[in-house]
Amino acid sequence: MTQKVIPAILTSDPEDLRAKLQLFKAESEWMHIDIMDGKFVSNVSVSVRDLLAPEGRGKDFRLEIHLMVQNPQAYLKDCLATRDPAKRDKDRGVGRIIVHQEATGDIRKALREMKAYGLEVGIALNPATPINVLALHANDVASVLIMGVTPGLQGQEFMPSVLEKIPAIKKDFPHLQIGVDGGVGEENISTIFQAGADYAVVGSKIFATQDPVEAFKKLEEML
Ligand code: DX5
Ligand code: ZN
Repeated sequence: MTQKVIPAILTSDPEDLRAKLQLFKAESEWMHIDIMDGKFVSNVSVSVRDLLAPEGRGKDFRLEIHLMVQNPQAYLKDCLATRDPAKRDKDRGVGRIIVHQEATGDIRKALREMKAYGLEVGIALNPATPINVLALHANDVASVLIMGVTPGLQGQEFMPSVLEKIPAIKKDFPHLQIGVDGGVGEENISTIFQAGADYAVVGSKIFATQDPVEAFKKLEEML
């Protein structure tokens, strides 16, 4: 069972990444880390390697690594390295890896390889991508991440039309856990959960406030 609200860090500055993780240490078990390659989306982010210990702090959390990249398979090794090999602790470091349906690499191969390493794998759908594409991957993934915005930036407005996907996924692919990412805040989080989401990813409505931990707790209390 995943926590319901997962804070999202989207940054190109490794110091900023560390500071944000530090803020949430002992406050949130899960953190969502946005990784961008400048090709799948035009922005570039920190790299997965920036999460590595000791100073990276990735091992203090269960990480949902959201790969907004063309070739997800190329990131697998670094994602696995965020786990502590000495402790073999599967509850810390990468816990879930999210691959985009719209990526150009061999997605099926990437998903299967990730799964073979014991990772929970999810597939993200851009706002314009219909849910029938899930039929191709439904046996390889445990979750689907519905994008409420065009990926690449924080602070964009949620597209309410994507909510229709939730009941449709529940009907056709009932085993999939459903997350919603992008544009989530106080004004729409209840509607998103009423539609049937299992968890929501929140970036700017947490981190662009005076007190991010307080903002996170407030959203959780709304559910
Ligand atoms: C969008 C990212 C989201 C983003 C969420 O490209 O995948 O995870 O960080 O930020 P907000 O909540 O501000 O849309
Ligand atoms: Zn994301």
